[in-house]
This record gives sequence, C-alpha cells and structure tokens, in this order.
Amino acid sequence: MVSVLFVCLGNICRSPSAEGAFRKIVEDRSCDDWINIDSAGTHAYHIGSAPDKRAQQVAKKRGINIAGLRGRQVVSADFEKFDYILAMDNENYHNLLAMCPEHLHGGISMFLSYTKNNSGISEVPDPYYGGTDGFEQVLDLVEDASSGLLDKIITLKNN
Ligand code: 4NP
Repeated sequence: MVSVLFVCLGNICRSPSAEGAFRKIVEDRSCDDWINIDSAGTHAYHIGSAPDKRAQQVAKKRGINIAGLRGRQVVSADFEKFDYILAMDNENYHNLLAMCPEHLHGGISMFLSYTKNNSGISEVPDPYYGGTDGFEQVLDLVEDASSGLLDKIITLKNN
C-alpha cells in the first residue's frame, strides 16, 4: 500500500477537496486497491465537522462526493503512517515540519509541486473567507495536482 495524506489548516475546505479529487482519479484509474487516502488539519478548530457546504457543492458539480468526510487534526502517528504528506500552503508545510521527527521530513511536500499545467501557483489559496470562485479555483488546482501526483506514484511503483 501507498498512503497519502492531504493537509490544510482546518480540514474543512482545501484538504477534503484534495482528498475527494485524488480519490476520484485513483478510483477512475483502478488504483484504489493499493493507495490509501486521508486528510487532516494542522489546527483543531473543526474536528468532527463536515466539509464546508461551498466545498461540497463545487466538488459535487465535478462528480466528487465529500459529504461524508469529517475533520480531524494531524497527529504524530501520521508521520510514520503516510508515505506522502501534502501541504496545501507554506504555513501548513512549515507547521508540519515543526511537528515531524527530522528523519521523516522527506515525506512532507507541497501538494502543488505535483502540478502538471505549470500555472506558477505554488500554494492552494485559503478560500474560507471568500466566495464560491475561490472554491472553484481550489478544485482546479487540486484536480491538476492529483493527476500529477498519481502519475508519479504509478511511475515509482513500476520502476
Ligand atoms: P481550510 O480552510 O484550511 O482549507 O480547511 C479554513 C477553514 C477554517 C478556517 C480557516 C481556513 N478557520 O479559520 O476556521
């Protein structure tokens, strides 16, 4: 099994969107029997909460169902458990590094480093205080990077 964890601040907007988008493409490419997927937040604000309604609606329009996901906080066991820990922005990335034992730092990366369309955007912008447009942009970015990430994981498996 390869294990993948998406991380943002609250685990109700960006990382559940990324989890849903990645899960869909993993299922579409019949890789769901060997890739394990989860998401979490660096903060505790929304433990047990469903994804933001706006995130749910934008995902649903693209055939991605995230309604059943529930917020949780990153725990230290995650650094051992997950092969890929993908931060949505620089703040998440630095918070993860600060929590993680140094010998496991190699598992942590910026999710948009896997992007395929080379938009020049390195962070998934926090959409929480904005409008629906921000959630559409989140989905655009996480769908693109999900495809790049899965390509990479499949290439490594086959080599
Ligand atoms: P997320 O968005 O990190 O993408 O889940 C946020 C959710 C909640 C808050 C901030 C960002 N908040 O301040 O409660």
